[in-house]
Amino acid sequence: MAGSWSDGYISDINYTFGFYHEMTPAHLAQAALIRRVRAPAPDGMLNYCELGCGQGYGTNVLAAANPHISFVANDFNPSQIAGARALAAEADLSNVRFLDDSFAQMVERTDLPEFDIISLHGIYSWISAENRAHIVEFIRRRLKVGGIVYISYNAMPGWAAAMPLRRLLTDEAAHLGNAPIVERIDQAMTLTNELAEMGVGYFNVNPSVGERLKRLGGQSRSYLAHEYFNQDWTPFYVTDVAKELSAAKLDWACSANMIDSFPALTLKSEQQQFLAKINPPIRREMLRDIILNQQFRRDIFVKGSQEIPTAEVDRIWGATVYTLASPRQKISLRVQTPLGQVELQPTVYQPVIDALSQAPASGSQLHAQLAGSGLQLAHVAQAVNVLNALGFVQPALPAHGIEARRVQAHRFNDVIMRRALHSGDLVVLASPLTGSGLSVDRIIILFLFAIKEQQEPVQFVFQALEKANQRLMRDGKPVASAEENRQELVTLYQSFIELGHLDVYRHLQLI
Ligand SMILES: C[S@@+](CC[C@H](N)C(=O)[O-])C[C@H]1O[C@@H](n2cnc3c(N)ncnc32)[C@H](O)[C@@H]1O
Repeated sequence: MAGSWSDGYISDINYTFGFYHEMTPAHLAQAALIRRVRAPAPDGMLNYCELGCGQGYGTNVLAAANPHISFVANDFNPSQIAGARALAAEADLSNVRFLDDSFAQMVERTDLPEFDIISLHGIYSWISAENRAHIVEFIRRRLKVGGIVYISYNAMPGWAAAMPLRRLLTDEAAHLGNAPIVERIDQAMTLTNELAEMGVGYFNVNPSVGERLKRLGGQSRSYLAHEYFNQDWTPFYVTDVAKELSAAKLDWACSANMIDSFPALTLKSEQQQFLAKINPPIRREMLRDIILNQQFRRDIFVKGSQEIPTAEVDRIWGATVYTLASPRQKISLRVQTPLGQVELQPTVYQPVIDALSQAPASGSQLHAQLAGSGLQLAHVAQAVNVLNALGFVQPALPAHGIEARRVQAHRFNDVIMRRALHSGDLVVLASPLTGSGLSVDRIIILFLFAIKEQQEPVQFVFQALEKANQRLMRDGKPVASAEENRQELVTLYQSFIELGHLDVYRHLQLI
């Protein structure tokens, strides 16, 4: 049951162990850089605060990969904080503090530094107006001038049609009173599905809601509880969030979702022309959300906005090292964007991908390497930035400090690998190269563990699974025999090597 500390927030089922790459200091700096907005340099001795950190896994990954940054994270759910502290202690991370404070208590603390970055993911739409005010007050008191805030939230108008669906689910769950949350969710889902199957008015005029309901059926109960079944749940227009945060002297800077900064990939040409004449940028952003029927936003706000001169943008871009975050063979030049399927120009993109598949390289190095193929600087820069926006490429931190980052990230990854022997909960490894994390399938984490320990990977993972009494899944069912388990592992390992995953993970220095 929810405790009296929980303010109507679901606390009787813990949240999932998420990691969101957008919260990475180096990513935030790049997302701001391409919009010429000054953000804290990710290799600086920064102070970083995550509000409402859930299980704290994201903060732990970032702390592991950025030993030069001091992290503080809060969540009022003590069992989540206990788990986060235990992981930090096991990996000996001395640059992170987890507090079981509420947002109201965070405001009153006098032992916190001024922060360069404050981030909150999956919080703002799921709390009361009073708690939002605590967060704004915390930012007002604790964000440095020149600091940035990363904030994500459910957005309008994308949620408009589904609002009655959410209401129906929560009303039905509330009707079941004190039954356990999972039981209430299941019963509310059953009744709602029955209505949808009858083809009644609301579902008939809003076919997208029926589709959403189908997708909900496949989601974990833990995710559903937190996403849909809170007492508070408010989707926002970007302008409303900007208005609330202006009380902390924040200005909207740009989207942390870098693809939003490439109009040619996300908007039709008449839409681009329409938006080009709209000012100020926040009004343009609002209209863009109407065009795209936006339903989730990840934004960067800044306290004391400063434009970076173009020459400095070019210099930073040229000096930044970029690395592939996916194997070359898995990068398709046919990509899905809000415009539908878009084909990236192979003559520009393929040479950049090929060069990065050899080794990480700085913008200037890439340009020099590719000058022979006739690619101009602007083309190379555009390709790297778009590949970054699509998640195929990530920026690295500067080389200085790599040794300290490697020692700490590897100590953390070692703990994650050991935990993967028994459980599939933690599937993100820290990269000392990028200062970020990378999601890696549990079995692949175990292959990496074996490689690091110089063991034969298939045999190592086979024995680990046998010991834990676990079998791999095929077609949604566990395979029948130990021999089939081994065969399945042989196939997985072959494709892991053939597709070039190991090369990418070595470039990212995960092991
Ligand atoms: C949807 S979860 C998101 C967790 C995490 N940021 C993530 O994305 O994985 C929201 C979190 O906010 C925490 N929370 C809700 N209200 C809070 C409050 N008033 N003070 C502190 N934490 C709160 C909950 O315990 C929960 O872990």
